[in-house]
Amino acid sequence: MEKKIVMSGMRPTGSSHIGHWEGALKSWVELQKKHQCYYSIVDWHALTTEYHDSKNIKGNIKELLLDWLSVGIDPEKSIVYLQSSIKEITELFMIFSMITPLGWLERVPTFKEQKIQLNDRDLNTFGFLGYPLLQTIDIIIVRGNIVPVGEDQVFHLELAREIVRKFNNFYGEYFDEPMEFLTPIPKLPGIDGRKMSKSYNNTICISDKAETIEKKIKPMITDTRRKRRTDPGVPEDCPVFALHQSFSSKEEIREISYACRKASIGCIDCKKVLIKNMNDFLDPFRERREKYEKLSVMDILEKGNKKARETAKRTLEEVRELVKI
Ligand code: TRP
Ligand code: SF4
Repeated sequence: MEKKIVMSGMRPTGSSHIGHWEGALKSWVELQKKHQCYYSIVDWHALTTEYHDSKNIKGNIKELLLDWLSVGIDPEKSIVYLQSSIKEITELFMIFSMITPLGWLERVPTFKEQKIQLNDRDLNTFGFLGYPLLQTIDIIIVRGNIVPVGEDQVFHLELAREIVRKFNNFYGEYFDEPMEFLTPIPKLPGIDGRKMSKSYNNTICISDKAETIEKKIKPMITDTRRKRRTDPGVPEDCPVFALHQSFSSKEEIREISYACRKASIGCIDCKKVLIKNMNDFLDPFRERREKYEKLSVMDILEKGNKKARETAKRTLEEVRELVKI
């Protein structure tokens, strides 16, 4: 792949978990080796659904930033910035609102789904309807053409391309149509066996300390066939085994699978192996986090804001000329 401009974002809604690592951050770290990457903490997007309870957003910004830095997003390579500090985004958003048909926004599946799911708040708002347009602006204002996202965002990217096409038709071929770079959907279960999700309170966080990992893994339910130590199990039916898939070596997985079926390993020992491997995996993250916690990370963010703002300014100037405004 030639050098591209990569753009992606995450909402600051709480600690990142290992699903975020598998499903996004791992690719983000990889992409920064070859491309110019823009990674945005999209606090306006958080506000679209959390406006009724926005007091946590600020604290979550710093937390998310630390999560990113700890997994190896390198602020010397990637431009890491805060969406709401780039005021140019709002102007471009406004200009694009003139050409974006309401019907396109109303058609977005997440618009209807989220309104049903988050029914404790009113999402019949202008801002929430505009969510995918704001996302489009995030991408194009830094001239992003590769967008690492999960499957659930594909519709947003299709919409972004349609909107870009419309702009280009009116005002001249200026923006690239952004392409999604699909990241794998993590198959990690949470510690209760359900899908790992913040809303289920069953996550393993990137920032968890070694003791926390132990506290979370030890009481996990295992295959219910293994009531006694001598009862053989079926590892495929065990969420602990599912986590081994991500953190243990092929060799270990093979051994555990065999030993579980033969009842020659107990669940406690099996979990001990997982705890050790998870901690070995998280240790480099912890080290980096500690290093960054001593620095002023908000200064790092401010540096990124400056760089992103420069790019955004240039885009906006050129757009104003094209639109003749
Ligand atoms: N909508 C994305 C999500 O929920 C977050 C997001 C906002 C984003 N702006 C973006 C992702 C720009 C990629 C590019 O995950
Ligand atoms: Fe799960 Fe391991 Fe127990 Fe088998 S031995 S049931 S894989 S925890």
